[in-house]
Amino acid sequence: MTRIIVLPGDGIGPEVAAEARLCLELVSERFGLGFTFEEHDFGGAAIDRHGVPLPEATLAACTAADAILLGAVGGPRWDDAKERPEIGLLKLRKALGLFANLRPARIMPGLEEYSPLRADIAAGADVLVVRELTGGLYFGEKTLEQDRASDLCTYTREEIERIAHVAFQWARQRSGRVTSVDKANVLATSKLWRRVVSEVAQDYSDVALDHLYVDAAAMHLVTSPTRFDVLLTENLFGDILSDELSVIGGSIGLLGSASLGTGGAGMFEPIHGSAPDIAGKDIANPAGAIASAAMLLDHLELPSQARLLEAALEQTLREGHRTADLGGAVGCAAFGARVREILDGAAAAPRAPAHVQASL
Ligand code: NAD
Ligand code: IPM
Ligand code: MN
Repeated sequence: MTRIIVLPGDGIGPEVAAEARLCLELVSERFGLGFTFEEHDFGGAAIDRHGVPLPEATLAACTAADAILLGAVGGPRWDDAKERPEIGLLKLRKALGLFANLRPARIMPGLEEYSPLRADIAAGADVLVVRELTGGLYFGEKTLEQDRASDLCTYTREEIERIAHVAFQWARQRSGRVTSVDKANVLATSKLWRRVVSEVAQDYSDVALDHLYVDAAAMHLVTSPTRFDVLLTENLFGDILSDELSVIGGSIGLLGSASLGTGGAGMFEPIHGSAPDIAGKDIANPAGAIASAAMLLDHLELPSQARLLEAALEQTLREGHRTADLGGAVGCAAFGARVREILDGAAAAPRAPAHVQASL
């Protein structure tokens, strides 16, 4: 039995998570995988019902899960809450030890027109952001007084080493290049970051490493996105650069992510937020949530099923089904339904790989 916890969250979170969950249910049914799904309150929805964004029951369920599927949290209603929804997300990442956030972004072949960049610049872009997720400014001591505030940024050698290993190992599976991003011309944490990443690189002589300051990296991402393969960043830089990178493919609604630790449950979520401006209208793009579901299948060591879901998602886009963020009029639920229609056909088709057929 594979236990999947669903945290729909707030705003468009429940809308996109529902589409991703239905895809996973279909995969489970078609391949006899016996997934079980349990929904739990999280974020603003949990504040409304329990007074806190990460209730104990939600944390306990996530701790015992095989995988977690998250929509998104937050919204103006809770911006002044004692503990905001976003704090619940940070606590959950920390409690589960999810230090590695993988955010793959690429221009799908044939879909260069979705990019706001010129097709000749965007074509072939394929970047994996490896973002450190449980350290840095997000988790340092904070003070907030009337006229003075501070956020402490700390990184240890161990925190940098483990995320650097993740980046180098991924580079080996890809094009063999790591670009490490920092602000080592100013920040002490970045000086340590650059030194430790360079040391870890010595274990990976087959991988090319270069370093960029974060401001220059932001520039290169839009002028020459194809120069990047694996982009290794600390927590805040990765948050910012991955939103920038997402629109190179057309929309923030397209990108999924995996948050992984040393073992145990991974968490899978689109990189976007709760998008309060479009919530409740069935116009959100569920592609990022569905891409996250495919990453969840990979994490459960079901690569054939992950590829089938990814292929169904890509075909849906290639057929021209576009949600409003990509200039179309297809609704969130209708988009998800088309992905599942294609997936259903592919799961039944004889061209499924042999080991997939064996478990049918
Ligand atoms: P956002 O990502 O929610 O939205 C930014 C813009 O992108 C908006 O115009 C929105 O309509 C659009 N957008 C986002 N996702 C989309 C989708 N799937 N389809 C179509 N359009 C989409 O960022 P924001 O507005 O800065 O933040 C809103 C709330 O979400 C805040 O409370 C923030 O803290 C929270 N947030 C949560 C997460 C998370 O749960 N992981 C991530 C980012 C932001
Ligand atoms: C993300 C979000 C979160 C982050 C916020 C909501 C805490 O922006 O997942 O990208 O900054 O990590
Ligand atoms: Mn973000």
